Amino acid sequence: MTRTRWALGLLLLAGCDAGTGTLDQVDPDAIPAQPTWSAPVEQVFDLYCNGCHSEAAQTGALEGYAYDTCATAKRGRGETLEVMRGGTMPPPTGLLMPAAARLTLERWFAQGAPCD
Ligand code: HEC
Repeated sequence: MTRTRWALGLLLLAGCDAGTGTLDQVDPDAIPAQPTWSAPVEQVFDLYCNGCHSEAAQTGALEGYAYDTCATAKRGRGETLEVMRGGTMPPPTGLLMPAAARLTLERWFAQGAPCD
């Protein structure tokens, strides 16, 4: 199994906690210590954000937030963390985002959002 598929499987499994967990409930060793774009940050954005926020899916209402390339994902750092922490994104019409996936993005941004 490729590293990417392994990471995706892990995040899907982590999804069993139904998206209501807090970050401190996540086993810190259950997600990569230094997440990078290709493993598994891109998969997280694809699963939880890009149904609405990719360049392809985007409408005017989405105000320019796209997460389908590392460069566009990096650019939205401040607002991305704000809506995720506030629980407004993903909205109720999207998938519930498990704490493990949120912590992965927190770590990625905190480490300067490496594109690989
Ligand atoms: C089901 C569709 C959908 C999904 C999934 C979704 N969004 Fe959004 N997002 C929207 C819409 C529609 C808006 C614009 C209207 C609004 O602010 O509610 C928006 C707005 C935003 C904004 C701008 C908010 C502001 O206050 O200006 C950010 C940042 C954002 N989304 C980030 C994300 C992130 C990060 C994810 C994934 C974790 C995500 N969204 C998932 C539909 C979605």
